[in-house]
Amino acid sequence: NWSMDDFIDLQIKHIQETVGDKKVLLGLSGGVDSSVVGVLLHKAIGNQLTSIFVDHGLLRKGEAEQVMASLKGKFGLNIIEVNAADRFLSKLKGVSEPEKKRKIIGAEFINVFNDEAKKLEGIDFLAQGTLYTDVVESGTDTAQTIKSHHNVGGLPEDMHFQLIEPLRTLFKDEARELGEKLGMPSDLVWRQPFPGPGLGIRVLGEITPEKLQIVRDSDFILRDEIKKAGLDRKIWQYFTVLPGTRSVGVMGDGRTYDYTVGIRAVTSIDGMTADFAHIPYEVLAKISTRIVNEVDHVNRIVYDVTSKPPSTIEWE
Ligand code: XMP
Repeated sequence: NWSMDDFIDLQIKHIQETVGDKKVLLGLSGGVDSSVVGVLLHKAIGNQLTSIFVDHGLLRKGEAEQVMASLKGKFGLNIIEVNAADRFLSKLKGVSEPEKKRKIIGAEFINVFNDEAKKLEGIDFLAQGTLYTDVVESGTDTAQTIKSHHNVGGLPEDMHFQLIEPLRTLFKDEARELGEKLGMPSDLVWRQPFPGPGLGIRVLGEITPEKLQIVRDSDFILRDEIKKAGLDRKIWQYFTVLPGTRSVGVMGDGRTYDYTVGIRAVTSIDGMTADFAHIPYEVLAKISTRIVNEVDHVNRIVYDVTSKPPSTIEWE
């Protein structure tokens, strides 16, 4: 009958014994799991931990800043921030097939991470935010992967690290509880799931800087209004997508021909099945008005009312 406090004490002791005076590397994604691992490790071994945060240019608005302010600013982690947006965008140029985009983003992520890791000397350990569910899922090779799920990280092939995975016995809820116990802000700990390929699979088809901007800005407004309506903890995931279709609208005296933005919001237990969230019309109206008014080149908003199955949560 263990408590989270016991868990923290035990893990810290275990990490200190394992690591000794050696150095540890961590890939931070901005998500809950790697952030919790970062804070836990920092508590255990301080500056023997170096973290690499790769910004692939497909993050949400304010995300990189928030991660840096919190983990570096507040918790004092030693973080190398790599702005690799151009590198990713040029690799993705002309690519519109979803699985291809995933593969490119996943591979490039590992490349960028490795390039940075190679510059560091004397690292013996690699820490990862692997959860119990990840262990179980990767153990079943019969599992059908409908979409390839590339999580960030990945062991550099030509480097020989020992793995440290302190969350291996925890479920997601427990990882969040651990984060709270470690004093992490609830904004970070209760973050909705965000896919590794990020906004790259929310701009449908080919990714351009202009389209990314539309998704990023509209998503920011959606998140703001969902939070203001007190729905952020009730909805599993909520985000906007850009299908790339344009339609006719009217603004002032003029006719417009601009993009449609889709809103996707679902309730779910584990992401395997989902229902569309029954967001009150008033909230949807507010979101719609704000997006059309505040984001250039958008003149229509649609709400996705399909469940999973038959739809998936993401549109790609
Ligand atoms: P779908 O769209 O398959 O999504 O219903 C189920 C959950 O998985 C997330 N997702 C991904 N996560 N890499 C990830 O790390 C991916 O390529 C990916 N595709 C989907 C999705 O956001 C949802 O939480």
